[in-house]
Amino acid sequence: MTLTQPPAEQPLDFAEPWPSTIRAVVVGANGGLGQAFVERLCAHAQVNHVYALARVPIQVSTHPRLTAITADILDETSLNCAAQTIATQGEVHLVLVATGMLHDPQKEVYPEKSWRSLNAAQLAQNFAINSIGPALVAKNFLPLLALQNKSVFAALSAKVGSIEDNHLGGWYGYRAAKAALNMIVKTLSIELKPKRPNALCVALHPGTVDTALSKPYQKASTAQKLFTPTHAANQLLQVISQLRPDDSGGFFAWDGTRLPY
Ligand SMILES: NC(=O)c1ccc[n+]([C@@H]2O[C@H](COP(=O)([O-])OP(=O)(O)OC[C@H]3O[C@@H](n4cnc5c(N)ncnc54)[C@H](OP(=O)(O)O)[C@@H]3O)[C@@H](O)[C@H]2O)c1
Repeated sequence: MTLTQPPAEQPLDFAEPWPSTIRAVVVGANGGLGQAFVERLCAHAQVNHVYALARVPIQVSTHPRLTAITADILDETSLNCAAQTIATQGEVHLVLVATGMLHDPQKEVYPEKSWRSLNAAQLAQNFAINSIGPALVAKNFLPLLALQNKSVFAALSAKVGSIEDNHLGGWYGYRAAKAALNMIVKTLSIELKPKRPNALCVALHPGTVDTALSKPYQKASTAQKLFTPTHAANQLLQVISQLRPDDSGGFFAWDGTRLPY
């Protein structure tokens, strides 16, 4: 799929075969990109309801179409409870996994510059949050995807997780965990096809976005290449809205370009 870069203000159009009303789930709703997804979806007339999952629940004012739910992607019981609550209210058409971790100073996890920094606990933390958590979200939420209408499960990956595109080295744990996530997404898409023929499962790269995750590592990005969360969320929703059945299992950047695994 290719998509020319639309301006951020381009209207977001979930045209047929999307249903006329969309129910969306955002996991990691208190993150930079997660919040931007929630805001954009809540503002969209076609979106009937947004379920915002976060381990520290987001502050919900009185938005009539937004429900905040507490869920930790590393606690499957919490994911299962959230999925069951949402399922009682109907099927969903969009599941966005916007969780992730690149550094965690509290646990002394930082992207490795050399193999000398490889550390079992840091690698395990990377795989837990960036690969295993999204897999558990998929296990609990793919069964909620619509049976008849188009629906999409999208997990935020990162271009640095592309094995073919790795020319710089470093960041072992994050790169490997995102590569594992990409494999999980591809494998899910194969199992999903016969169960939900109109559903897609994709991995997405948002570009370099000005969030807490990227803050210490933004020096290499020029101002033009550093996106606001609002811009990146809008771009990714444009990409999602235009995905075709053949795109399932793919890895797409913010501008719709297909990335190599
Ligand atoms: N920003 C970029 O430049 C960039 C580039 C490429 C890819 N990405 C990917 O985009 C995604 C979103 O990143 P972001 O930039 O929005 O980062 P962010 O602002 O740091 O958000 C990450 C979110 O993940 C949540 N999270 C972490 N562990 C969790 C857990 N166990 N259970 C529930 N939530 C958990 C965090 O929740 P807490 O607030 O509770 O910690 C936070 O809301 C990530 O997958 C990232 O790898 C980002």
